[in-house]
Amino acid sequence: MEVSKVGVMGAGAMGSGIAQLAAQAGFEVILNDLEMSLVDKGIGRMEDFLSKSVLKGKITEEQKKQTLGRIRKSTDISDFKDVDLAIEVIVEDLELKKKAFAQLDSTCKPEAYLASNTSSMPITVLGNATKRPERVVGMHFFNPAPIMKLVEVIRGYYTSDETVKVATRVAEKMGKTPVEVKKDSPGFIVNRLMMAQYIEAIRLLEEGVATIEDIDKAVKLGLNHPMGAFELQDFGGLDIGYFVAEYFYEEFKDMRWNPPQALKALIRSGRLGKKTGAGWYDYDKQ
Ligand SMILES: NC(=O)c1ccc[n+]([C@@H]2O[C@H](COP(=O)([O-])OP(=O)(O)OC[C@H]3O[C@@H](n4cnc5c(N)ncnc54)[C@H](O)[C@@H]3O)[C@@H](O)[C@H]2O)c1
Repeated sequence: MEVSKVGVMGAGAMGSGIAQLAAQAGFEVILNDLEMSLVDKGIGRMEDFLSKSVLKGKITEEQKKQTLGRIRKSTDISDFKDVDLAIEVIVEDLELKKKAFAQLDSTCKPEAYLASNTSSMPITVLGNATKRPERVVGMHFFNPAPIMKLVEVIRGYYTSDETVKVATRVAEKMGKTPVEVKKDSPGFIVNRLMMAQYIEAIRLLEEGVATIEDIDKAVKLGLNHPMGAFELQDFGGLDIGYFVAEYFYEEFKDMRWNPPQALKALIRSGRLGKKTGAGWYDYDKQ
């Protein structure tokens, strides 16, 4: 089935970016959140991004208007009844996501595809919350979605070849480069590689091998990464790194994913992380 109408559930940082990409690609878009103020906030973020693109000469004022004109605001999930593809972009909580998939399954037409932008949750479990697991797929965009080129297209245990093809085509139409994750494995490709580097960077710090600044310099200049391991974690959020390490450890039952003691202590004590807003670069100043 050709996709022409896309429903995006969740208008936060990622959802608004994905809705923008879909509208720019010419899809008709419905952007849904729990409250209209949250949808408006998402649209506001989009307007800012598009206005900057106009100033930089990347798009015209007319293209900005057309993009925004393709988006319909919604707080009622029944608005998704005739979408061809629904993309779930709500908070990273498995129980809430399972509920969301059951809701999408009972709302969307039977031939619609259902995708999740989850960073870590099993697509097979989300598929099992529906009566159409063969039409459920992971579409993992990266932050910020309008800029980052990659989309991981993740196959759950029951996902059909056709569904993978559709998600791949949609990602390409949005100007992205998709890669197929053939097995529903924790962290998919990117987050598994990223966590390995992150954990090892903390261990280097714990062992006194080098400072935060020098480890990051080494990653940037020696591996040619645009951001250092600590810088990247501060950008994404320290707590998320900790939760992902815990999740990998539980799933793989392998000591290499055991969150380093320094990270555990810093998060549990509330010295760094969400509670304080402090990241690794504040560590030396504590
Ligand atoms: N932020 C990132 O760097 C990043 C990168 C890749 C993937 N992701 C994934 O994308 C998803 C969303 O992340 P985010 O950073 O945009 O989160 P966010 O907190 O900015 O946005 C989530 C939005 O979902 C809404 N929401 C919650 N329950 C809902 C429901 N039942 N119906 C409709 N809306 C609902 C919330 O009100 C909120 O506006 C998560 O699964 C996350 O793991 C995040």
